[in-house]
This record gives sequence, C-alpha cells and structure tokens, in this order.
Amino acid sequence: MTVEPEQISHQIVVDRLWKVFGNNPSSALEAENAGKSRAEIQSEFDQVVALRDVSFHVEKGETFVVMGLSGSGKSTLVRCLSRLIETTSGHIYVDLEDVTSLDDKSLREFRRSKVSMVFQNFGLLPHRNVMDNACYGLEIKGLSRTERYERAQRMLDLVGLNGWETSKVSQLSGGMQQRVGLARALAVEPEILLLDEPFSGLDPLIRRQMRSELAVLQKEIQKTMVFITHDLDEAVTVGDRIAIMRDGEIIQMGTPEEIILNPVDDFVAEFTEDVSKDRVLNASSISVTPDLIWSYSHDLNSLKNKMDEVKAGHIAFVNESGASLGVLTGSDVEHIASMEELDRMLGESTDTMMYSSNVKPAISKLANSSTPIPVVDSDNNLLGVITQASILNALSE
Ligand SMILES: Nc1ncnc2c1ncn2[C@@H]1O[C@H](COP(=O)(O)OP(=O)(O)OP(=O)(O)O)[C@@H](O)[C@H]1O
Ligand SMILES: [Mg+2]
Repeated sequence: MTVEPEQISHQIVVDRLWKVFGNNPSSALEAENAGKSRAEIQSEFDQVVALRDVSFHVEKGETFVVMGLSGSGKSTLVRCLSRLIETTSGHIYVDLEDVTSLDDKSLREFRRSKVSMVFQNFGLLPHRNVMDNACYGLEIKGLSRTERYERAQRMLDLVGLNGWETSKVSQLSGGMQQRVGLARALAVEPEILLLDEPFSGLDPLIRRQMRSELAVLQKEIQKTMVFITHDLDEAVTVGDRIAIMRDGEIIQMGTPEEIILNPVDDFVAEFTEDVSKDRVLNASSISVTPDLIWSYSHDLNSLKNKMDEVKAGHIAFVNESGASLGVLTGSDVEHIASMEELDRMLGESTDTMMYSSNVKPAISKLANSSTPIPVVDSDNNLLGVITQASILNALSE
C-alpha cells in the first residue's frame, strides 16, 4: 500500500494484515479466497488463520483497545505489531516506517526505543529482584548502571512499588508482579506501549484498582497504547476506541459509545449488553434542540410573547455570537419583571456541559431540578440542551 497523506498523523497503521500459523500459509490463503471457512481450513490443511485481513490505525497518544473471546487473535495481533512473530502478509507502519520490512538491526532499535510490551503472564525474570527486572530493558539499551537505576526507580515509584526494589519477583503477589511488568515496559520510555491482557491474572478488586491507576497514569504519560482485554468494563474505562475481534477478524471498531449503542450484530450486542449505558453516553448524544433559543439583546416583552407563541417549556439564552448564557424554564421567565432580574437568574444558572463529557453528572443534576442543562463546545457555543426527558429517552432506548 502507499500510505495516504491523511494517514501521516497516525502513529500506527495496520494494513490488511494476515497471519496463518502452519507450514503452508499459501494453501490457507488460497482456500480463503475459495471461500472456505476458518474451521475448514484448519481441519483440511492443518493451518490456523489467526488474523484475517486486519486493518486499523492508532493515533499518537490514543488508547486503542482490542477485545475478543479467547482464541480470536488478540495476542497474535499485538505480537505482530512488535514483530515477535512474523506476519504472513500485509503491512504495519509505525511513524511511516514499515515494521514488516525492518532488517535485524533496525528491528532491535525499534524494540529498544519505540515499543515495549507488557505480557499476559507478566513475563518477568523470576530469580531477579524487582529493581533488576525493572531495569531489564535499559540493560539491553546499554545504559550505565546509575542511569538504569535512576530511571527504573522513577517508574517503580510511579507504579507504587517504592520500597520493594530488592524483593524477589517470585515472592510478590500477581498484582505487584504486573506492576513490575508495567514499570519495566515504561522504563525504556517507549512511544508505544503494547499491553496484552495485563490485568487478566489478577483478582477482580485489584484488577479494577490497576485499571483506574492505568487510566490516571495514561493522563500523565500520554503514550500511544494498544491494550488487549476480553473485559468490556476494562475496555470502556481505558479505551478511546475499541476494536472487537472474532475468529481473527475485526468485526466492529469505534468509540465505546458507538459500539455499545450501535452494535453491528448479535455477537457484539451480547458482548456489550452488561455495560450500563450511562457509562458511555456523552452529553452530545443525548442533547436535544432547545424549545426556544433567545438572543439576549432582545427585550423581555417580545421574549414572553414568543415564549407563549411556541409554548416553550424552557429557553436557552445566547449572545450575538451564539455562546451559551444559560437556560431558564418558562415559569422562571414568566415571573421575571426586569432585565436586571433576568441577568441575575442567568448568572445563577451557570452549569454547562461540554459535548464530549460523560452524562452521569447530568443525570444527578436533573434528578433534582427540571431546568435543562446547556451543552456547549470548547468555545462555549450552544449545541443543544439536556432535559429530563432526553435523558430518560436515551437510557430507555
Ligand atoms: N504459535 C502458534 N502456533 C499455532 N497456532 C497458534 C499459535 N499461536 C496462536 N495460535 C492460534 O491462533 C489463534 C489465535 O490465538 P491468540 O493467542 O492470538 O488468541 P487470543 O485472542 O490472544 O486468545 P486469549 O484470549 O486466550 O489470550 C488460536 O486459534 C490459537 O490456537
Ligand atoms: Mg492472548
């Protein structure tokens, strides 16, 4: 493929990737073209089609989650990204460089500085202590001992392992071992972090804790992440976008909201049915057009006339350039006698919501007040309002 200009901003571009395990991949690809199923190919040719025409891209700083059942090809995909396994066909570009064609020397450099990986089962050196495990990637990188210890210490502090430096990793709990794995991956200061079910071995409580810690950490370090999980809650918490895999294929890709609100088929719907909608709904998806939008410069009488004419239950006030000044209910406005009073009431109704923010706070506000909440963009331009009815509609759909 020639990389299109609009893909230049993407840090990772995966283009029509195939991976066949077995000694005769071309027989599998031919059978694929002839329309045979994955199961048929496996039984007839003894080849496993682990990745089937997978394409996607990841932006710099984005957390891209790959989800799917066991055996769907998640680990294979992430291992192809760092070329721990070779792809059968297709391309992977990282910062426009084709990873699939790197020579040994460039590949070593790529692994040393561009990507690092946190493995499904920790992948630590059991007889080394915490510090030496955290230093491992830096040793390969050829840093001096002082530098290694300094950097690794910073990462151990970051993941909450200060004080455990000299403990053997085999004596740590699963959660702590996974933190060591995370510290080791971060210590090399990679641009891209590949995480293959990093929390899968942990009990649910620790898992939730690690997950939210990672979300906080990500705000600070802003890495590009490819995060594998088969836990939807986890995907929704950490993912900017999610790809859902089945039998080696990506069957749906989108924001958590898109996937949960518009599953492409029953499989995805079933996968996602346990996540409550209020976790993924954002303000813009439940906002509606205000009953009446009123430019503040107009006088009070014409406002009241207009309000009666259109039977407005609420009025959204804007300035000349469309910026939100607040929302009042019709009965609020009826009792207003002067512009000063209107000023004061608008001054008190300062709540707005950014279009992209989660809808949960609006639910609790609107449970106690019938005044709709204006939804705005980053320039405070009015985009719509959230009303009690619009929330109930969205949640019951
Ligand atoms: N080295 C290998 N040789 C042959 N087949 C393999 C190899 N590695 C993986 N596979 C097969 O490829 C398919 C995808 O496996 P993969 O490990 O990528 O799945 P996964 O989605 O990571 O599953 P899990 O959630 O269990 O980790 C499976 O059918 C698996 O048996
Ligand atoms: Mg796996």
